[in-house]
Amino acid sequence: MKNIVIASDHGAVSLKKEIISFLKTKGCTVNDMGVHNEDSVDYPNIAIVACREFNKGGYDFGILLCGTGIGMSIAANKIRGIRCAQVFDLFTSRMAKEHNDANFIALGGRVKYNVPVTEILDTFMMTTFANERHTRRVSQIMDLDKIR
Ligand code: RB5
Repeated sequence: MKNIVIASDHGAVSLKKEIISFLKTKGCTVNDMGVHNEDSVDYPNIAIVACREFNKGGYDFGILLCGTGIGMSIAANKIRGIRCAQVFDLFTSRMAKEHNDANFIALGGRVKYNVPVTEILDTFMMTTFANERHTRRVSQIMDLDKIR
């Protein structure tokens, strides 16, 4: 059973609901940090709340949603410890885990994906980190947190 933190801006409220329903069918625990309606909000503020929650510990990964997934991923990757991958399909979803050990994925509520988002998510959850040379590279990414 996975413990997941999720948040969206107004551009992906209905996608968030769909994802939460799917995760519950998978037996996951989901902490929904909002938003809960389509009133306009600023996505960086939402990303910070979800990433800070993740950094408290105890979560397997996080999901950030906005209109495109772009703004949320850019914002999340500014926050210490976060490796947020904007994923588009089954391949990028698998690679985000296998090679990058992403601890967040970002998706867009206004994006037309070629496969159901639930499959994209399921692929991410079913994949394991490859280790080997990727451990070194992920560690190099995390060292970038020290750069000011
Ligand atoms: C909000 O209109 C939109 O800009 C936001 O959801 C996201 O797509 C930004 O990257």
